[in-house]
Amino acid sequence: MTSVAWFMANLGTVLGAGICALVFAQLAIQFLRATEEMLYQRNLHRLRLDEIAQRVQQIRQQHLSHRHSTGHWDGWRKFEVQQKVIESAGCCSIYLVPHDGRPLPSFLPGQFLTFAVKFPGEARPVVRCYSLSDAPGKGYYRCTIKRVDAPDDEPQAPAGRVSSYFFDELAAGDIVDVRAPSGAFFLDIQRHRPVVLIAGGIGVTPLLSMLYAVVDGAPHREVHFFYGVQNSRYHTFREAIAALCERSVHVHLHTCYSRPTPTDVREVDYHHEGRITPELLRRSLPSNNFDFFVCGPPAFMQSILDGLRGWNVPEDSIFTETFGPACVSPRRHAATQATSAQVRFDRSGKTADWNPHFATLLDLAEAQGIPIDSGCRTGNCGTCLTAIKAGCIEYVDSPATAPPDGSCLPCICAPASDLVLDA
Ligand SMILES: Cc1cc2nc3c(=O)[nH]c(=O)nc-3n(C[C@H](O)[C@H](O)[C@H](O)COP(=O)(O)OP(=O)(O)OC[C@H]3O[C@@H](n4cnc5c(N)ncnc54)[C@H](O)[C@@H]3O)c2cc1C
Ligand code: FES
Repeated sequence: MTSVAWFMANLGTVLGAGICALVFAQLAIQFLRATEEMLYQRNLHRLRLDEIAQRVQQIRQQHLSHRHSTGHWDGWRKFEVQQKVIESAGCCSIYLVPHDGRPLPSFLPGQFLTFAVKFPGEARPVVRCYSLSDAPGKGYYRCTIKRVDAPDDEPQAPAGRVSSYFFDELAAGDIVDVRAPSGAFFLDIQRHRPVVLIAGGIGVTPLLSMLYAVVDGAPHREVHFFYGVQNSRYHTFREAIAALCERSVHVHLHTCYSRPTPTDVREVDYHHEGRITPELLRRSLPSNNFDFFVCGPPAFMQSILDGLRGWNVPEDSIFTETFGPACVSPRRHAATQATSAQVRFDRSGKTADWNPHFATLLDLAEAQGIPIDSGCRTGNCGTCLTAIKAGCIEYVDSPATAPPDGSCLPCICAPASDLVLDA
């Protein structure tokens, strides 16, 4: 058979084989394309992941280097006392610079530093907070400390530990352990609303920092500065405040001496005789339409706050700081707070009965002799942070920053059920 005859006889088979080959080739091409596309997508995905990982790394590094370059820190950092200045009777300022020489982060006017002071022979440091009293953005931190004497009704009691140590003993060149500036009592310098700053005694420290911030950064903002002290002996920062008033016609100063000395002259040393009262505020201010910042001793704070509320100043226009356990307006009882509960302090192996006679879990612990470190006792510094092993708590005051899940700030909380604490 000739090849032509063979081809004609097997035409069907040849055509079938050709079509199969074509289909196979088509499938193979599609398969190769799909594989190529898949590999391409996988590489792209991998590239994207690498890119994202690189970006995250970059951001992390930027964040770290920002923290490093701005000097932010966690925990305790060593500061050197650059100088110590006596400001008035029983009151001194300490100027602090970082011992590690790294930059100093700024702070918000009104915030405070937390100090840990180690006394010889004692295992645990004593923690205290002191407000920053100078303008933000200087090359140092300044705190101003009033020496706290024994209470009038217990003159034999020892004087305040840390304040008397700072006033009597701390000297230039000494090193102190300090936590970064913190606190929710600060003036928002971006706001334009006029402000009233009301200081009783050493409560002037955060308010002076606010006054600096307004005069430096928003000199057109109206400020009324009420400052109550006993007399010229205790008139801390007199020249500094006068200099700030010189710099802005929008700052109005109202100084009150409760007990002027025979040589104190009205309209020269002070403006009003007596304490700062709600009546004085009403007489001196054009309206109640201000943000009010108040800091001073508990009785003074209570009287001013009652007066502001009686004058229909909205609660969200009143900002306060207490320099110790909150004594102003009895702590509110949260709806979920237990009226009775058992609190087990696991590490100490003690169990105590809670009742609302105790203001906070820290009070309950201290009544049982259970050591929980504390600093501000107002939910600001984080020193009393304690893990909750079982049960629920209820805050009676708002913490400055929410503690991590599973822990609480016993200085401002109460049990909402039976509780086991890691203390
Ligand atoms: C956010 C914040 C900011 C602050 N800012 C400032 C500030 O800028 N400037 C400032 O000066 N303070 C400030 N304080 C207050 C400061 O933190 C301290 O509370 C204050 O200096 C008293 O501490 P201390 O260790 O000297 O007194 P403590 O040792 O705590 O004593 C307190 C009182 O108890 C008395 N006492 C001690 N032992 C006994 C006893 N056995 N029996 C009876 N009484 C006793 C003492 O005599 C004293 O009167 C601030 C507080 C907070 C929370
Ligand atoms: S003591 Fe400062 S947060 Fe509790």
